[in-house]
Amino acid sequence: MDHSFILYGSLPPAKPHLAQSPIVVYRSRMPERERYGRRAAGVYGALIDPVLRSLRSKVARICQEEDVARVLDVACGTGAQCRRLARVGIRVTGVDLSEAMIAAARRRHRAGAEYVLGSAFDLPFLDASFDAAILSLALHEHAENERTAMCCQALRVLRPGGVLVVADYACPDRTSLNVPWMIVRFVETTAGPEHCAGFADFVRRGSLGGPLARHGLTSFRATRAVFGTVGIDVVRWPSGTLAQSGPN
Ligand SMILES: C[S@@+](CC[C@H](N)C(=O)[O-])C[C@H]1O[C@@H](n2cnc3c(N)ncnc32)[C@H](O)[C@@H]1O
Repeated sequence: MDHSFILYGSLPPAKPHLAQSPIVVYRSRMPERERYGRRAAGVYGALIDPVLRSLRSKVARICQEEDVARVLDVACGTGAQCRRLARVGIRVTGVDLSEAMIAAARRRHRAGAEYVLGSAFDLPFLDASFDAAILSLALHEHAENERTAMCCQALRVLRPGGVLVVADYACPDRTSLNVPWMIVRFVETTAGPEHCAGFADFVRRGSLGGPLARHGLTSFRATRAVFGTVGIDVVRWPSGTLAQSGPN
Protein backbone atom coordinates (compact mmCIF):
# COMPACT_ATOMS: atom_id res chain seq x y z
CA MET A 1 0.00 0.00 0.00
CA ASP A 2 1.31 3.47 -0.85
CA HIS A 3 1.05 5.78 2.12
CA SER A 4 2.36 8.90 0.46
CA PHE A 5 0.49 12.14 1.20
CA ILE A 6 -1.41 11.06 4.24
CA LEU A 7 -3.50 13.84 5.74
CA TYR A 8 -3.04 13.40 9.48
CA GLY A 9 -5.29 16.16 10.66
CA SER A 10 -5.99 19.81 10.22
CA LEU A 11 -4.65 22.95 11.80
CA PRO A 12 -6.96 24.74 14.21
CA PRO A 13 -9.19 27.03 12.07
CA ALA A 14 -8.46 30.05 14.28
CA LYS A 15 -4.89 30.26 12.92
CA PRO A 16 -5.29 31.84 9.48
CA HIS A 17 -1.57 32.62 9.14
CA LEU A 18 -0.86 28.89 9.33
CA ALA A 19 -3.81 27.71 7.29
CA GLN A 20 -1.78 27.65 4.08
CA SER A 21 0.23 24.80 5.57
CA PRO A 22 -1.86 21.66 5.12
CA ILE A 23 -0.55 18.79 7.21
CA VAL A 24 0.59 16.68 4.31
CA VAL A 25 3.74 14.73 4.98
CA TYR A 26 6.61 13.65 2.78
CA ARG A 27 6.40 10.23 1.16
CA SER A 28 6.00 7.60 3.84
CA ARG A 29 5.85 3.84 3.35
CA MET A 30 4.67 3.15 6.85
CA PRO A 31 1.68 4.61 8.73
CA GLU A 32 3.04 6.79 11.49
CA ARG A 33 1.33 4.93 14.31
CA GLU A 34 3.20 1.76 13.28
CA ARG A 35 6.66 3.33 13.27
CA TYR A 36 7.06 2.61 16.97
CA GLY A 37 6.08 -1.05 17.22
CA ARG A 38 6.67 -3.50 20.08
CA ARG A 39 10.34 -3.98 19.25
CA ALA A 40 11.00 -0.24 19.04
CA ALA A 41 9.19 0.31 22.35
CA GLY A 42 11.34 -2.43 23.95
CA VAL A 43 14.58 -0.96 22.59
CA TYR A 44 13.53 2.56 23.65
CA GLY A 45 12.75 1.42 27.20
CA ALA A 46 15.95 -0.60 27.55
CA LEU A 47 18.53 1.58 25.79
CA ILE A 48 17.28 5.15 25.29
CA ASP A 49 15.30 5.85 28.48
CA PRO A 50 18.28 5.18 30.80
CA VAL A 51 20.38 7.73 28.86
CA LEU A 52 17.68 10.39 29.27
CA ARG A 53 17.60 10.42 33.11
CA SER A 54 19.08 13.92 33.38
CA LEU A 55 16.40 15.18 30.98
CA ARG A 56 13.61 13.64 33.10
CA SER A 57 14.98 15.19 36.29
CA LYS A 58 15.36 18.65 34.77
CA VAL A 59 11.87 18.64 33.27
CA ALA A 60 10.42 17.44 36.60
CA ARG A 61 12.29 20.20 38.45
CA ILE A 62 10.94 22.83 36.03
CA CYS A 63 7.38 21.57 36.55
CA GLN A 64 7.81 21.63 40.33
CA GLU A 65 9.26 25.14 40.29
CA GLU A 66 6.49 26.37 37.99
CA ASP A 67 4.10 24.92 40.54
CA VAL A 68 1.95 23.01 38.07
CA ALA A 69 -0.62 20.46 39.18
CA ARG A 70 -1.84 18.87 35.92
CA VAL A 71 0.59 18.06 33.12
CA LEU A 72 0.16 16.60 29.64
CA ASP A 73 3.16 14.76 28.18
CA VAL A 74 2.59 14.82 24.40
CA ALA A 75 4.17 11.86 22.54
CA CYS A 76 5.03 10.33 25.93
CA GLY A 77 6.70 7.17 24.59
CA THR A 78 7.26 4.57 27.33
CA GLY A 79 6.05 7.02 29.98
CA ALA A 80 9.45 7.55 31.66
CA GLN A 81 8.86 11.32 32.03
CA CYS A 82 5.32 10.73 33.30
CA ARG A 83 6.59 8.36 35.99
CA ARG A 84 9.24 10.87 37.04
CA LEU A 85 6.55 13.57 37.40
CA ALA A 86 4.15 11.27 39.25
CA ARG A 87 6.97 10.45 41.69
CA VAL A 88 7.03 14.09 42.81
CA GLY A 89 3.26 14.23 43.18
CA ILE A 90 2.29 15.84 39.87
CA ARG A 91 -0.81 14.48 38.13
CA VAL A 92 0.21 13.61 34.59
CA THR A 93 -1.45 12.32 31.44
CA GLY A 94 0.69 10.82 28.69
CA VAL A 95 -0.61 10.66 25.14
CA ASP A 96 1.04 8.76 22.29
CA LEU A 97 0.08 7.49 18.85
CA SER A 98 1.83 4.15 19.26
CA GLU A 99 -0.13 1.32 20.89
CA ALA A 100 3.14 -0.40 21.78
CA MET A 101 4.47 2.69 23.57
CA ILE A 102 1.21 3.18 25.48
CA ALA A 103 1.16 -0.52 26.44
CA ALA A 104 4.78 -0.25 27.67
CA ALA A 105 3.88 2.84 29.71
CA ARG A 106 0.81 1.18 31.25
CA ARG A 107 2.84 -1.93 32.19
CA ARG A 108 5.06 0.27 34.39
CA HIS A 109 2.02 1.80 36.09
CA ARG A 110 2.60 4.45 38.72
CA ALA A 111 -0.23 6.12 40.65
CA GLY A 112 -0.80 9.66 39.41
CA ALA A 113 0.03 8.85 35.77
CA GLU A 114 -2.51 7.84 33.13
CA TYR A 115 -2.02 7.09 29.45
CA VAL A 116 -4.18 7.79 26.42
CA LEU A 117 -3.78 6.59 22.84
CA GLY A 118 -4.10 9.61 20.55
CA SER A 119 -2.45 11.93 18.07
CA ALA A 120 -0.43 15.02 18.87
CA PHE A 121 -1.93 16.56 15.70
CA ASP A 122 -5.41 16.38 17.16
CA LEU A 123 -5.13 16.02 20.93
CA PRO A 124 -8.18 14.36 22.48
CA PHE A 125 -8.41 16.92 25.32
CA LEU A 126 -10.42 20.06 25.97
CA ASP A 127 -8.95 23.55 25.51
CA ALA A 128 -7.19 24.98 28.56
CA SER A 129 -7.31 21.74 30.53
CA PHE A 130 -3.64 21.51 31.66
CA ASP A 131 -1.20 23.70 33.61
CA ALA A 132 1.75 22.47 31.55
CA ALA A 133 2.34 20.55 28.35
CA ILE A 134 5.57 18.76 27.49
CA LEU A 135 6.93 18.06 24.02
CA SER A 136 9.99 15.94 24.76
CA LEU A 137 11.96 14.62 21.78
CA ALA A 138 8.67 14.80 19.92
CA LEU A 139 9.33 17.43 17.25
CA HIS A 140 12.60 16.45 15.57
CA GLU A 141 11.31 13.41 13.69
CA HIS A 142 8.48 15.29 11.98
CA ALA A 143 8.07 17.61 9.00
CA GLU A 144 7.97 21.36 9.73
CA ASN A 145 4.21 21.78 9.28
CA GLU A 146 3.65 18.81 11.60
CA ARG A 147 5.88 20.45 14.22
CA THR A 148 3.76 23.58 13.95
CA ALA A 149 0.59 21.55 14.39
CA MET A 150 2.02 19.82 17.47
CA CYS A 151 2.96 23.16 19.03
CA CYS A 152 -0.50 24.61 18.24
CA GLN A 153 -2.23 21.66 19.81
CA ALA A 154 -0.01 21.64 22.91
CA LEU A 155 -0.74 25.36 23.40
CA ARG A 156 -4.46 24.83 22.82
CA VAL A 157 -4.77 22.53 25.85
CA LEU A 158 -2.88 24.95 28.14
CA ARG A 159 -4.73 27.24 30.51
CA PRO A 160 -3.75 30.92 30.26
CA GLY A 161 -0.51 31.36 32.18
CA GLY A 162 0.34 27.68 31.68
CA VAL A 163 3.75 26.58 30.42
CA LEU A 164 4.91 24.67 27.37
CA VAL A 165 8.11 22.72 28.03
CA VAL A 166 9.87 21.81 24.80
CA ALA A 167 12.87 19.50 24.98
CA ASP A 168 14.62 18.45 21.81
CA TYR A 169 17.98 18.23 20.11
CA ALA A 170 20.05 21.39 20.19
CA CYS A 171 22.74 21.19 17.54
CA PRO A 172 26.09 22.39 18.98
CA ASP A 173 27.99 25.19 17.22
CA ARG A 174 30.86 22.85 16.46
CA THR A 175 29.72 19.36 15.54
CA SER A 176 33.07 17.90 14.50
CA LEU A 177 34.68 15.80 17.24
CA ASN A 178 31.63 16.33 19.44
CA VAL A 179 31.19 12.72 20.52
CA PRO A 180 27.71 13.02 22.14
CA TRP A 181 26.42 14.76 19.00
CA MET A 182 28.02 12.10 16.77
CA ILE A 183 26.14 9.44 18.78
CA VAL A 184 22.87 11.39 18.39
CA ARG A 185 23.42 11.59 14.63
CA PHE A 186 24.16 7.87 14.44
CA VAL A 187 21.03 6.95 16.42
CA GLU A 188 18.84 9.26 14.35
CA THR A 189 20.15 8.05 10.98
CA THR A 190 19.45 4.43 11.94
CA ALA A 191 15.89 5.14 13.13
CA GLY A 192 14.20 4.74 9.73
CA PRO A 193 13.87 6.94 6.61
CA GLU A 194 11.01 9.18 7.78
CA HIS A 195 12.58 9.73 11.19
CA CYS A 196 15.96 10.43 9.62
CA ALA A 197 14.48 12.90 7.08
CA GLY A 198 12.67 14.72 9.89
CA PHE A 199 15.83 14.94 11.99
CA ALA A 200 17.91 16.31 9.08
CA ASP A 201 15.25 18.94 8.35
CA PHE A 202 14.97 19.83 12.05
CA VAL A 203 18.73 20.44 12.32
CA ARG A 204 18.82 22.38 9.03
CA ARG A 205 16.11 24.72 10.36
CA GLY A 206 17.98 25.55 13.55
CA SER A 207 17.00 22.54 15.71
CA LEU A 208 15.18 23.37 18.95
CA GLY A 209 15.27 27.16 18.54
CA GLY A 210 13.84 26.92 15.00
CA PRO A 211 10.16 26.14 15.54
CA LEU A 212 9.99 28.40 18.60
CA ALA A 213 11.60 31.39 16.88
CA ARG A 214 9.48 31.06 13.74
CA HIS A 215 6.34 31.54 15.84
CA GLY A 216 7.85 34.17 18.10
CA LEU A 217 7.56 31.85 21.08
CA THR A 218 10.06 33.26 23.56
CA SER A 219 11.40 30.97 26.20
CA PHE A 220 11.77 32.55 29.63
CA ARG A 221 13.84 29.67 30.90
CA ALA A 222 16.32 27.44 29.06
CA THR A 223 18.76 24.72 29.98
CA ARG A 224 20.49 21.68 28.50
CA ALA A 225 20.60 18.00 29.39
CA VAL A 226 22.06 14.70 28.14
CA PHE A 227 25.65 15.92 27.69
CA GLY A 228 24.45 19.16 26.13
CA THR A 229 22.71 17.46 23.20
CA VAL A 230 19.15 18.19 24.36
CA GLY A 231 17.93 21.72 24.97
CA ILE A 232 14.95 22.48 27.21
CA ASP A 233 12.97 25.66 26.60
CA VAL A 234 10.02 26.87 28.64
CA VAL A 235 7.40 29.15 27.10
CA ARG A 236 4.52 30.77 28.93
CA TRP A 237 1.14 30.82 27.20
CA PRO A 238 -0.02 33.09 25.58
CA SER A 239 3.10 33.93 23.62
CA GLY A 240 4.34 34.74 20.12
CA THR A 241 2.44 34.89 16.84
CA LEU A 242 0.50 31.81 17.88
CA ALA A 243 -1.01 33.94 20.64
CA GLN A 244 -2.43 36.47 18.18
CA SER A 245 -5.10 34.09 17.00
CA GLY A 246 -5.56 32.37 20.37
CA PRO A 247 -4.94 28.72 21.14
CA ASN A 248 -8.20 27.80 19.42
C1 LIG B 1 11.55 9.86 20.20
S1 LIG B 1 10.11 9.29 21.00
C2 LIG B 1 10.04 10.38 22.40
C3 LIG B 1 9.32 9.76 23.56
C4 LIG B 1 9.32 10.58 24.85
N1 LIG B 1 8.59 11.82 24.73
C5 LIG B 1 10.70 10.83 25.38
O1 LIG B 1 11.01 11.97 25.78
O2 LIG B 1 11.49 9.87 25.43
C6 LIG B 1 8.82 9.94 19.97
C7 LIG B 1 7.44 9.47 20.39
O3 LIG B 1 6.51 10.22 19.61
C8 LIG B 1 5.41 9.39 19.33
N2 LIG B 1 4.68 9.99 18.20
C9 LIG B 1 5.09 10.14 16.92
N3 LIG B 1 4.15 10.79 16.21
C10 LIG B 1 3.14 11.06 17.06
C11 LIG B 1 1.88 11.71 16.92
N4 LIG B 1 1.49 12.20 15.77
N5 LIG B 1 1.08 11.80 18.01
C12 LIG B 1 1.46 11.29 19.20
N6 LIG B 1 2.64 10.65 19.40
C13 LIG B 1 3.47 10.55 18.34
C14 LIG B 1 6.04 8.05 19.02
O4 LIG B 1 5.12 7.00 19.09
C15 LIG B 1 7.11 8.02 20.10
O5 LIG B 1 6.63 7.42 21.27
